[in-house]
Amino acid sequence: MSSPGSIASWLELSRAAWATNVAAFRKLGGPNRRVGAVLKGNAYGHGLHAVLPLAQASVDALYVITPAEALAIRAWEKGAGKPRKPTLVIGPASPSEAVQLALEGVDVVVADSGFVAHVEALRAAKPTSKLRAQVHIDTGLGREGFTVEQLQAGAADFLAQAGDVVTLTGALSHFSNTEDVTEQAYANSQLAAYDAGVALLRARGGLPADAERHMAASAAALVLPPSRLDVLRVGIALYGLWPSTETRLSAKVVLGEVPALEPMLAWRCPSQVVKWLPAGSYVGYGCTYRCGAPTRAAVLPVGYYDGYPRLASGKAHVLVNGKRCPLLGRVMMNHVIADVTHAVLDERPVVATLLGTDGDESVSAEALAGWAQTIHYEVVTRLGAHLERRTVP
Ligand SMILES: Cc1ncc(COP(=O)(O)O)c(C=O)c1O
Repeated sequence: MSSPGSIASWLELSRAAWATNVAAFRKLGGPNRRVGAVLKGNAYGHGLHAVLPLAQASVDALYVITPAEALAIRAWEKGAGKPRKPTLVIGPASPSEAVQLALEGVDVVVADSGFVAHVEALRAAKPTSKLRAQVHIDTGLGREGFTVEQLQAGAADFLAQAGDVVTLTGALSHFSNTEDVTEQAYANSQLAAYDAGVALLRARGGLPADAERHMAASAAALVLPPSRLDVLRVGIALYGLWPSTETRLSAKVVLGEVPALEPMLAWRCPSQVVKWLPAGSYVGYGCTYRCGAPTRAAVLPVGYYDGYPRLASGKAHVLVNGKRCPLLGRVMMNHVIADVTHAVLDERPVVATLLGTDGDESVSAEALAGWAQTIHYEVVTRLGAHLERRTVP
């Protein structure tokens, strides 16, 4: 993190935008469904500790990828005097971590028969509370979880005998292509597999009838109503970003209106120096850019170390005084250089917006992802954990 008053880029997180996005999913879920926030990947790069107070106050469940993230949530809750929010580690946890998570009231995922070792570790350690666990069913992503065939063959039957140390609280699955298409044939086949898996777990895996069911991430919650089940497990869209163009198009068709999601993030950077470069000057490593005319350049102390993608070199622009300013030459480890010739009248310091809105212009995470030949999920999750996060109204 930067020191106070330092010349370094920072992230702004809009409290109002978060509230708008939560409200959109509350509306989709209706009165009987819960809404949970996916906070993995350092809250999609927005910053776990910055987003946590907003999420804790507004959603019903939290989803993280690592035990360490879940323990950080519990530590924050203790420090802030908040009650424990239902929290699920959707990634792997070791047997010894499972014992610790049992004590902290954190749910873990049972994704394969290797969980037998966790049951043994719990029996040996005898924590004062049972481990809360949710069974992951692989319905067609080919990633974690029991396939329906494995469940039929009895791979999760051991759970029915683990009730002395484990409480089964839910069953989940994850879609593979809801955001890539505008028809949901594959997703519907996944839903059918999920129902079959849940029936098997209830019949022979000890899954209680009232264990919560959840499958819908952002795209499915928006455009596939039958997938909403008991809880919406929402990531990218709570940060105000659409999963994809296909999802936005489908939302119009399925919902009749496009929910107004608001990006909560802006990324801004003060200049290190603003100066004239004479015509003919080269800019940046490799001399890939040469000024065709005298150029007023703003050197910005932000680079690929901070998460600004190097592949955006030669394509991206930033905003200064509400005007688009192209980046010149290559993105460097700790610097980019913007042409501010027409955006300012002198060489006083400027503040550039790398992501977000300035005046009538904005740079979206999708635009930056397009310049960098990647997806906006990657752009935001790669924002450096060291960057200062400022929560704004
Ligand atoms: C298991 C699981 N659930 C939910 C999500 C959230 O997805 P999205 O960000 O598209 O809402 C993810 C993200 O990759 C995930 O892996």
